[in-house]
Amino acid sequence: MGSYEPVLLKNLGVEGSRTLEVYRQSGGYAGAEAALKMSSDEVVEEVKKANLRGRGGAGFPAGVKWTFLPKDRERTILCVNADESEPPTFANRFLMENDPHMLIEGIIIAGFATKSQVAYVYLRVEFHEQFHILQRAVDEAYEAGLLGENILDSGYGLDVYLHRGAGAYVCGEETGLIESLEGKRGWPRIKPPFPAVEGAFGLPTVVNNVETLANLPHIISRGPDWFKSIGTESSAGPKLFCVSGPVKRPGCYEGPMTITCEELIYGDDYGQGMVGNADVKAVFPGGLSMGVLTGDEMHMKMDFDDPRNFGLLGLGTAAAVVVNVETDLRDVLMNVARFYSHESCGQCTQCREGTSWMYKMASRIAMGAGRVEDLDLLEEVASKMGMMPGYSICGLPDGAAFPVRGLVQKFRSEFESYVSQQRAGRAEAVLRVLN
Ligand SMILES: Cc1cc2nc3c(=O)[nH]c(=O)nc-3n(C[C@H](O)[C@H](O)[C@H](O)COP(=O)(O)O)c2cc1C
Ligand code: SF4
Repeated sequence: MGSYEPVLLKNLGVEGSRTLEVYRQSGGYAGAEAALKMSSDEVVEEVKKANLRGRGGAGFPAGVKWTFLPKDRERTILCVNADESEPPTFANRFLMENDPHMLIEGIIIAGFATKSQVAYVYLRVEFHEQFHILQRAVDEAYEAGLLGENILDSGYGLDVYLHRGAGAYVCGEETGLIESLEGKRGWPRIKPPFPAVEGAFGLPTVVNNVETLANLPHIISRGPDWFKSIGTESSAGPKLFCVSGPVKRPGCYEGPMTITCEELIYGDDYGQGMVGNADVKAVFPGGLSMGVLTGDEMHMKMDFDDPRNFGLLGLGTAAAVVVNVETDLRDVLMNVARFYSHESCGQCTQCREGTSWMYKMASRIAMGAGRVEDLDLLEEVASKMGMMPGYSICGLPDGAAFPVRGLVQKFRSEFESYVSQQRAGRAEAVLRVLN
């Protein structure tokens, strides 16, 4: 990867990278050992100094989140968010498949910092292989005295359980995850109370993403200043990026958050350009939910700040899906709207009805029966749903609104011309896809 020194993917391609032996040979568990010699508060301070921002989508600083836990608590639960349902995101999966001990080491450090006695790793149901890889690594860690009672003779004990979800996008939302973990329907909770005060099983709870936790061993081993030397002040540390769609080398790559979306698609260390050298029409650079860029906006930096300058919700999962010039945006719009309509849990009226109306309108446009008014209506519905305007319990409808509104606003003339020149036979073709 050029002059960039891989950190999170440093063991990628190393034979036996999933085993404790190989992980330890490359310095593994030195971070946990060092953390266990500090006090919990000192570990929290180190993570705060590093300004490690959550990699799960919202970018909230991990160390600060941990300070929201009540000081006088007796028990704490750590939930590891490995639901990874955001299309087209697969960085957590990649990490767990290739280096499961890096995650376990991160869990020990976060568990110690937050004084947790138990950690639940919530895995999306489709992660069959990853479940077994991770379980094997957890078993190895128990056998080596890295989990369970009195870890490395420190007096600190932590139990880790893997929990498999049942296949809902909304269970990635932290309170939906907690409900599902408790064996209930995965319905996000009204907040407050926030999980830090009353989370899983009524106890103070921290929810952190897999990639967030995988950064911890390196912060403790190499220090916050080293961490901040990568990227920028507000977007510090190593980052995993995914790129998919018709690019020459789709995959998960690591780099600093100074790269642009263009580099992610065209860079030699990343996507290596478009198949057939086709032009890019659109990119969803942060997973679907953050919104869309046009082919002229690819100079956007893949950091926590720049996406907002392009009308996006944020960096999200930093997983870009690329759309080439040949793609009909009616199909893109319909697929995007279908996803959120299907995944809304239905508790909030604006989300349940809004995502479903958006899907109906997007389908009508895709089928060749769209009207110009539908474009205005789509924008209006998108602006009236979500947490941002204050109409919902969780952020799913904000994530539905941004890509739909972005497509309609940024590609308005293209949609207008679709509507004015409806193609014969299109309705039948789309119905075939829908069925
Ligand atoms: C609809 C929805 C789905 C989400 N899915 C995920 C997910 O799959 N993985 C994840 O880590 N965070 C997901 N989040 C964000 C979590 O609620 C939470 O912010 C995150 O797990 C916190 O971890 P972090 O601070 O380490 O980033 C989702 C949020 C929403 C609104
Ligand atoms: S906003 Fe949507 S997904 Fe979230 S709780 Fe309400 S209905 Fe469910």
